[in-house]
Amino acid sequence: MLKDTPIALVTGASSGIGEAISRELVKRGWKVIGVARSAEKLAALQKELSDSFLPIICDVSQKSSIAKAAQEVFNKNLCPSLFFLNAGIAGELAIENPDRFDLSHHERMMQVNYFGVLVWIEAFEKECLAKGPTNFIVTSSINAIFAPPTGSAYCASKAAIAKAFESLSLTYFGTNLHFSVVYAGPVDTPGLKGNLPFTWKAEKMGRYMVDFAFSQKGRGDPSLFYRVLCSFLRALPAKYTMKILRKLS
Ligand SMILES: NC(=O)c1ccc[n+]([C@@H]2O[C@H](COP(=O)([O-])OP(=O)(O)OC[C@H]3O[C@@H](n4cnc5c(N)ncnc54)[C@H](OP(=O)(O)O)[C@@H]3O)[C@@H](O)[C@H]2O)c1
Repeated sequence: MLKDTPIALVTGASSGIGEAISRELVKRGWKVIGVARSAEKLAALQKELSDSFLPIICDVSQKSSIAKAAQEVFNKNLCPSLFFLNAGIAGELAIENPDRFDLSHHERMMQVNYFGVLVWIEAFEKECLAKGPTNFIVTSSINAIFAPPTGSAYCASKAAIAKAFESLSLTYFGTNLHFSVVYAGPVDTPGLKGNLPFTWKAEKMGRYMVDFAFSQKGRGDPSLFYRVLCSFLRALPAKYTMKILRKLS
């Protein structure tokens, strides 16, 4: 690896979109610090990507685990200039029981999809402000725009983190820290529930995310179809929304 190789940190690197982002970054000459809980999956990716991939086992729902991971990065004298804060509870795990409201589901979801993103900013803010331009990109979802039934916690977590990033992009305007949000449509990963039309392959999403990182844009809408559909469904009265959703399911 060359001395000036750029460094990115990707959370949720063990699977789906994060794995695809990691591969794409390495293809483009980056070193990737890949974060997730699954040691075996990270080890397999490390074997494939060799020295360009540094796996770090970390549970983003635990502040202490993120602090330990950040320390590991600093101890190795690495300072990423690009963060894909992508780890999240999604798919089947995000679906709620329609017969019983469960507050603890909301708590778990916010712990991973909201706080599990923001803790990284607290851990790296000082170093990144001092070091040079740094991009923090979060993987939000079209479900931040339209919230379907049995997704109240997931949708709230994705809307909350998107709003937090929108505000942070203004708070830190003119500094070295840049914040942007990608409102992902369906991507074919273990984190997608059901078969939806216009679903992207994870590799395509990985390429999109890396291109997006270099675009200097504050907001990414990869799927125009779902962007329009979600705005439409959100604007309709509930009885029509439910009619359409029942037809689609
Ligand atoms: N696929 C879609 O259609 C879609 C659409 C919109 C948005 N998104 C968002 O895209 C992101 C990636 O999802 P995906 O589709 O790639 O799903 P995925 O294949 O299930 O990947 C989820 C990733 O998050 C990691 N993760 C989950 N909980 C974690 C925790 N507590 N600590 C550390 N890592 C954790 C998982 O790693 P470990 O299990 O190894 O920890 C895994 O690498 C999520 O934020 C999701 O909400 C996905």
